[in-house]
Amino acid sequence: MKVVFLGATKGMGRALARLMAQRGDRLFLLGRDHEDLEKSARDLEVHGADGEVGTAFCDLLEVQSFAPALEKAQQKLEGMDIVVVTAGLFASQEQLEADDDLRHRLLLADFTNTVQFCEQARHWLLAAGGGTLCVFSSVAGERGRKPVILYGAAKAGLSHYLEGLDHKFREQGLKTIVVKPGFVKTSMTAGLKPPPFAGEPDGVARVVLKAIDNGTPEVFAPPIWRWVMLVIRYLPRAVMRRIGF
Ligand SMILES: NC(=O)c1ccc[n+]([C@@H]2O[C@H](COP(=O)([O-])OP(=O)(O)OC[C@H]3O[C@@H](n4cnc5c(N)ncnc54)[C@H](OP(=O)(O)O)[C@@H]3O)[C@@H](O)[C@H]2O)c1
Repeated sequence: MKVVFLGATKGMGRALARLMAQRGDRLFLLGRDHEDLEKSARDLEVHGADGEVGTAFCDLLEVQSFAPALEKAQQKLEGMDIVVVTAGLFASQEQLEADDDLRHRLLLADFTNTVQFCEQARHWLLAAGGGTLCVFSSVAGERGRKPVILYGAAKAGLSHYLEGLDHKFREQGLKTIVVKPGFVKTSMTAGLKPPPFAGEPDGVARVVLKAIDNGTPEVFAPPIWRWVMLVIRYLPRAVMRRIGF
């Protein structure tokens, strides 16, 4: 498979890219740090990626970087079957309430610009006759929750967009997969106290790769979060207000 990846230099993205490399996929990495990208590319070649892993500059906060990056990927791979987006930004509710600039950047990165990137990726995939768009959202988008109001709102919007995209374009061959991780131990959550059911990037990557192969439109990872969120989704507002979750 020919895979374009935004966010493979760390965390769950790196774990998923390594699994793809191990099975011999062709990979092209997009990101904002040239040195990190090159290091990751060489690492994926060692893990078995098919051919040279190419890289291009793409910053989720700079919409104008999207088109040249996707075009470079398309040229190098001579097509694309899968586009994965794991890039995203996290900050605590307290930090986001206190810092206007950080709040602006997080809402831009996690909703508006991820959607803008997906819209461009969608064109390339549909032009090639279809493919898979796999994007990481979050369980934080499933319900308005006190500790993650702003981050959760961005991810809620993203999850709805991705669901709609799948409804509209699946018949034309574009499979859209929304990944909803619970708490996973990565650089994003470093320093936070892991809650029960905290996952590891490798475990999440295995679940997500299976979903990509099967075209499963919605993935909770670790899978237990599907059942946790099922309960949370139906809790009355009065209960949500009282609990700290
Ligand atoms: N970890 C969790 O508990 C958790 C839970 C729910 C959802 N998620 C979501 O899952 C996804 C992956 O999370 P993770 O924990 O694996 O994160 P991570 O370890 O922090 O990795 C994030 C990746 O995104 C890239 N990135 C960040 N900002 C970028 C930008 N402006 N332009 C381009 N690339 C950028 C990072 O590259 P740089 O090195 O350049 O920053 C890195 O490769 C995110 O969307 C996150 O919101 C995570």
